[in-house]
Amino acid sequence: MIEVTALTKEFTQKKTTTTAVSDVTFRVEPGKIYGLLGPNGAGKTTTLRCIATLLRPTKGTITVNGIDVTKEPRRVRDTIGFLTGDMKLSGNLSPRELLRFFGDLNHLERDTTEKRIGWLADYLDMNDFLDRPVAKLSTGMTQKATIAVSLIHDPDVIIFDEPTAGLDILAAKTVVDFLYDSKERGRTVMLSTHIMSEAEKLCDTIGILLEGELVAEGSKDALMVAHDKPNLEEVFFSLAEKKGATEEVAHA
Ligand SMILES: Nc1ncnc2c1ncn2[C@@H]1O[C@H](COP(=O)(O)OP(=O)(O)O)[C@@H](O)[C@H]1O
Ligand SMILES: [Mg+2]
Repeated sequence: MIEVTALTKEFTQKKTTTTAVSDVTFRVEPGKIYGLLGPNGAGKTTTLRCIATLLRPTKGTITVNGIDVTKEPRRVRDTIGFLTGDMKLSGNLSPRELLRFFGDLNHLERDTTEKRIGWLADYLDMNDFLDRPVAKLSTGMTQKATIAVSLIHDPDVIIFDEPTAGLDILAAKTVVDFLYDSKERGRTVMLSTHIMSEAEKLCDTIGILLEGELVAEGSKDALMVAHDKPNLEEVFFSLAEKKGATEEVAHA
């Protein structure tokens, strides 16, 4: 369970303050997928980084399975698997070697790590390249390896920032199916996306984030009813118009 209450995050550079996230409140239950949908610069990554203990909220509180992210960041990190675009794997180690290394970092028994590697490699369709140096892998393969590393400790809570960005449709489908299975296995899943169709297909609840504000939230159907629109895309654009947000969201 993730509970975000009145989260505000400001960045101050050279006396100028940007409010990246403004008074955002939502919760994600176990066995559900929550998607933050919004254009570039909306504050998606900032929100997820605050939950993942990598940024300190300016105001508000966040708990993960009841643990406060600012009071016990270490325990929160043990509970979550976090993926973001700025942690791409590289170098001469293979995915298997990296997974062993991160298993050790997470204090897993070697047996547990080996079982977990087998499971992740099957689930994410990684067996063909498990022993190839990461430097020689395609974007999709590298992303799968990065995902596997973020999940080596079998976290209860999965937080993925734009998990399919840059992937071909097959690799994207593997990742999407994996997230769906994780939810079915009772994990709490949160992701961000700027791809409307992905939010629509995958998420139990969609939060629409525009210029740091959560302007609407609900299931796809509830959003369509509440805003009297025939599809999510039109809901989104009517909200963006009201807000005066100009940047487009991909409708892939
Ligand atoms: N470390 C930072 N320092 C200053 N401004 C930042 C920083 N990170 C993000 N921002 C700003 O906060 C806003 C939201 O960014 P971000 O959370 O990355 O949006 P998104 O992930 O939705 O594209 C943007 O205006 C961005 O420029
Ligand atoms: Mg982002």
